[in-house]
Amino acid sequence: MQFFPHTTIQTWERFYRANFINSLTGFKSVSLIGTVNQKGQTNLAIFSSMVHLGSDPALIGFINRPIQAAPHTLANIQATEIYTVNHVHPSFLELAHQTSAKYPEEVSEFDELGLTPEFIDSIAAPFVKESKVKYALSLEEIIPIKLNNTFLVIGKLQHVTLEEEEILLPDGFLELSKTSSLCSNGIDAYYSTQLIDRYEYAKPGVKPEKIKKLGG
Ligand SMILES: Cc1cc2nc3c(=O)[nH]c(=O)nc-3n(C[C@H](O)[C@H](O)[C@H](O)COP(=O)(O)O)c2cc1C
Repeated sequence: MQFFPHTTIQTWERFYRANFINSLTGFKSVSLIGTVNQKGQTNLAIFSSMVHLGSDPALIGFINRPIQAAPHTLANIQATEIYTVNHVHPSFLELAHQTSAKYPEEVSEFDELGLTPEFIDSIAAPFVKESKVKYALSLEEIIPIKLNNTFLVIGKLQHVTLEEEEILLPDGFLELSKTSSLCSNGIDAYYSTQLIDRYEYAKPGVKPEKIKKLGG
């Protein structure tokens, strides 16, 4: 067994400590956020902090690091109030990872890396054509987190595009493993997923039944 009090963790070399803490919270979905500035310059960056906040209204949040560390996505969202979220798949994983590099403001990661901007249904922000699950969010609120100068960015769902119909099951569940949407841990490790089981809504004292295979 290994036991690490925070006083010990605090003494570790900073990159070792960052890897340890970044991977401690476990697997997260990983997405590319597409934005545009007021001059029409597109931007694309990878984010793994997407979080479901509620389904009615459909609100989705993510954490943006301090502005100096990750300036462009946040500035564009503030300016245009619209952004896209695009799942990452193995076919363009390397390019998706590369979007985390600090490109200058005037360089679009789409052009630099060869991902294809796609414009759907009058949303000004670019989607990623190569992504099979993508949605648009309109800005609702940016909550500064004073503790560490990060931001909780909250958006409201505008629309969803699914490139492969079979991932949408008859009860509305999206079986994302069927389209190889990836997840990540820390800031450099990516994983594919496999469905184990789905279970009926849990009730106290009742053994949960497995949901029988629905559709595809
Ligand atoms: C796997 C992975 C996940 C990341 N998740 C986040 C995140 O949730 N929030 C964030 O601010 N930066 C995250 N980053 C870092 C950003 O991608 C990086 O700072 C990027 O340069 C931001 O670009 P921008 O200035 O164009 O917004 C992540 C990087 C990697 C490799």
